[in-house]
Amino acid sequence: MAVIALHCPQHTVTVFDINKKKVAEWNSDQLPIYEPGLLEVVQQARGRNLFFTASDIDRHIAESEIIFVSVNTPTKTFGQGAGRTADLQYWEKTARMILEHSSSDKIIIEKSTLPVRTAQAMENILNTNAKGLHFEVLSNPEFLAEGSAIQDLENPDRVLIGGHDTPGGKKAVQTIVDLYANWVPRERIITTNLWSSELSKLVANAFLAQRISSINAISALCEKTGADVEEVAYAIGMDSRIGPRFLKASVGFGGSCFKKDILNLVYLCESQGLPEAAAYWEQVIRMNEYQEARFVANMVSAMFNTLAGKRIAVYGAAFKANTSDTRESPALAVCRGLLAEKAELVLCDPHALENARLDLGDDARLVTFEINPYIAAEGAHAIAVLTEWEDFTRLDYKRIFDSMVNPSFIFDGRNILDRAKLFEMGFNVFSIGKEPLLHFNQHPTE
Ligand code: UGA
Repeated sequence: MAVIALHCPQHTVTVFDINKKKVAEWNSDQLPIYEPGLLEVVQQARGRNLFFTASDIDRHIAESEIIFVSVNTPTKTFGQGAGRTADLQYWEKTARMILEHSSSDKIIIEKSTLPVRTAQAMENILNTNAKGLHFEVLSNPEFLAEGSAIQDLENPDRVLIGGHDTPGGKKAVQTIVDLYANWVPRERIITTNLWSSELSKLVANAFLAQRISSINAISALCEKTGADVEEVAYAIGMDSRIGPRFLKASVGFGGSCFKKDILNLVYLCESQGLPEAAAYWEQVIRMNEYQEARFVANMVSAMFNTLAGKRIAVYGAAFKANTSDTRESPALAVCRGLLAEKAELVLCDPHALENARLDLGDDARLVTFEINPYIAAEGAHAIAVLTEWEDFTRLDYKRIFDSMVNPSFIFDGRNILDRAKLFEMGFNVFSIGKEPLLHFNQHPTE
């Protein structure tokens, strides 16, 4: 919404949230999320045509012509479809609230990621009204990635708008096309029917996650065969049909979307009587869980089959670099695995420690949170690099090595460190998808 406001000074954008604390943060220079470039965009538009508020929802609804609904749609934790399908209660409550306070026709936009045909349900709720109002529901899924959100919004690969093939539907779609055309080239704004748009969002995330699970499956094989996963990724990525992006082997994918959206897709397939298609996509998640568990298992076997009482510095809590978000972070999954082995954890991250503490729940009391990576590694037996923050590549690892217990181990779950140099310094180095570099005579896992 901030980027829309920035590029469309002729429109007034009001962002409403029920969380007063968050709204206050949006109105300050301490935004509630860490996202490079976002503050600058907010500062340019805020107070001009961008407003954040937690009050007067009735008036804001009544005055608006277009409403983007971006409420959360987490995985359902109860009842039918628990653990799989999306929990739509917030979406439905919002639809009812819109209906209650509306006195004119409106375009309602699904910005949240939703199961296919949700728009139908929303239309049924909205258009069954005694006021004679008409609501045109469109789907406009968001494809930005955290950490590069502003870049992705400024210069999107595509903007997708789905609507009905009716005169009212077409008119509403055109209104939203014109909105984005204020800064996005027309040829990158694509329009489809509603269901294609809803499904494309789930499928885009499923395909991206599938690429990561595919390369991670290969990373396991590389570690056994002496092949190097980065070389393999480079070699296959040169094939223009495959392409080079999203082929970085890692400790696993995280974030609030991939797992949730795939589970949603799996549920959709199952509920449409397509168990084979469901099982196919479910395997993408299973492979991700395997990769996280495999990382912990490798650490245990490398460190003489016990981690009990050993201090381990964990570099990275965020699910990826340049974000403070720790939702579904593989780093925290690995932390839980290490805690189960009774390791003593020192967790270090430049921006995500506060969220990590919340997400770890009860386990947080077993973890030391340390912003300084040098202090985190003091007296440690091992370092596990779990988020690809650039800060971790610039550290003085010789200094770190000298402060650690011998033999020292480093497990690079993101392949961001210079492994040959680390080995030379004296570290035993384990990198995802590569043969370990050891100062022992024998591979400790054999
Ligand atoms: C993802 C999609 O990339 C966005 O297009 C989408 O809009 C968004 O979900 C959403 O649905 O909201 P995001 O979760 O922010 O964006 O981050 P990604 O860059 O996709 O990374 C997801 C995870 O995959 C991270 O844990 C990242 O470290 C991991 N990853 C990514 C890899 O392990 N290897 C790669 O090559 C790329």
